Amino acid sequence: MAKVSIRNEIRFILNGSDVVLSSMASDATLLDWLRLDRSLRGTKEGCAEGDCGACTVLVGKLSSSGLVYESVNACIRFLGSLDGTHVVTVEHLRGRPGQLHPVQQAMVDFHGSQCGFCTPGFVMSLYGLWMKSSDPSNEAIEKALQGNLCRCTGYEAIMRAARAISSYGKATKDPLAVERKAITARLEAMRDGARVEIGAGKKRLIVPANVDDFAAVLDKEPGATIVAGSTDVGLWVTKHMRDISPAIFIGDLDGLCTIAEDNGVITIGAGVTYTEAFSMLAKRIPTLGPLFDRIGGEQVRNMGTIGGNIANGSPIGDTPPPLIALGARLTLRKGKKRRTIPLETFFIAYGKQDRLSGEFVEAVHVPVPAKGTKFAVHKITKRRDEDITAALGAFFLTLAKDGTVADVRIAYGGMAATPKRASAVEKALLGKPWTEQTVEAAMAEYAKDFTPLTDMRASAEYRALAARNLLLRFFAETSGTRKPIQVSRHEAA
Ligand SMILES: Cc1cc2nc3c(=O)[nH]c(=O)nc-3n(C[C@H](O)[C@H](O)[C@H](O)COP(=O)(O)OP(=O)(O)OC[C@H]3O[C@@H](n4cnc5c(N)ncnc54)[C@H](O)[C@@H]3O)c2cc1C
Ligand code: FES
Ligand code: FES
Repeated sequence: MAKVSIRNEIRFILNGSDVVLSSMASDATLLDWLRLDRSLRGTKEGCAEGDCGACTVLVGKLSSSGLVYESVNACIRFLGSLDGTHVVTVEHLRGRPGQLHPVQQAMVDFHGSQCGFCTPGFVMSLYGLWMKSSDPSNEAIEKALQGNLCRCTGYEAIMRAARAISSYGKATKDPLAVERKAITARLEAMRDGARVEIGAGKKRLIVPANVDDFAAVLDKEPGATIVAGSTDVGLWVTKHMRDISPAIFIGDLDGLCTIAEDNGVITIGAGVTYTEAFSMLAKRIPTLGPLFDRIGGEQVRNMGTIGGNIANGSPIGDTPPPLIALGARLTLRKGKKRRTIPLETFFIAYGKQDRLSGEFVEAVHVPVPAKGTKFAVHKITKRRDEDITAALGAFFLTLAKDGTVADVRIAYGGMAATPKRASAVEKALLGKPWTEQTVEAAMAEYAKDFTPLTDMRASAEYRALAARNLLLRFFAETSGTRKPIQVSRHEAA
């Protein structure tokens, strides 16, 4: 590998000003820095765990499609991850001289705020949406606001304000749109291809220059904490006060953030966020679109990666079961050595994955279901939006010409200590006619595959029953006896 130069500072733009920081803790959050160091207190702390959206800011980054601004949760975004970005806080919103910004004016006129604590967060989420779409649908507005909670106004007034923003001004005339070229040039000038290292010894934070540099750094420092989107690691710090240093920040790393299809297999780099993966996956594997829409809120999807969702080994991560059902494979890398394994074998036991010291998840390879095959995934939660899975079932089925089951893969989350296949159920289905009778017989096999737990999300009995019934639902939807059942946001409310 070519020798990499090292820089001992991070550089980014905060609102209109260039920022250079050469000293910071690896666990310093953007929210604390904004409020305590910069006295920018418009950005609020509600939950400090990515749920309420009071801390929403926009982060602009250079991508293959140019400068893109996304809403993020400043409470769980680490300062060290901001190198080469443009951070925009609510203080930067500007209207015509002497006037409020269109988003703010709409919120005032449509009574979108009472106590005001959540308001800057809503304003920033709506601002991010308005820049992408000046006439968004109700669904798009609701999606953009999934990660913003308001305890007093109620959402109808905010929805009305959101629909009216464009009557107060044009998104193309907004300062961020007008200054796009200049900001892009400033961000490009910050790119020097260097590795960033701040602090000394075990307290260091490192932003590798690219994926090869990451592999080399981790090989030397295998005990370091890998931080991708920080939507899990952020909570280790804000909720559990865990020491994450030395930390290696890999969000936006060159060589880790591409998604591409080759020969019917989609390869997703471990640094690809849910938002970045959405358009290709929802187009090529449409069943995944509605699932992705229910992972966290928009801010979490803008930061969180599929690689992080796999690497954390959580039994309730939403992407492993459908990817296992699709027959995905995982590439792990240590230094220059790579190995590719079936995704399901990565999960060994609770908190234990097949990952060697100094090894990292580089990419996941997902076969696009062939024509005529059937694939479904169902997530069960108490709340439709922004809720963690109680149980999730994913089903992949190929029928032979005579109507018998030629191939079947069923995987669940929330039913065991790891994401897990329902092997006994699959065995009971294989080679049998795809009929209600076969399915009902197979449902009796669930007890061999799973002994679910009772916890705050669901009882063991509920999980066991729901898991069995999801198979029946899959049968009903795929055999044409019932239309696919999809509950809309309005029906769920
Ligand atoms: C409000 C909120 C809502 C959420 N809702 C959902 C939800 O609905 N469904 C769901 O599944 N999850 C949810 N999550 C959890 C989280 O968003 C996901 O697990 C996410 O995919 C984690 O990705 P990340 O990039 O943020 O990982 P990080 O937090 O950066 O890292 C997670 C773990 O993976 C490791 N890691 C990251 N990348 C690699 C790599 N390339 N190689 C090796 N190790 C690596 C880290 O060291 C860490 O152990 C939610 C989180 C929040 C805060
Ligand atoms: S403070 Fe609640 S999401 Fe950040
Ligand atoms: S206005 Fe009070 S929390 Fe939303």
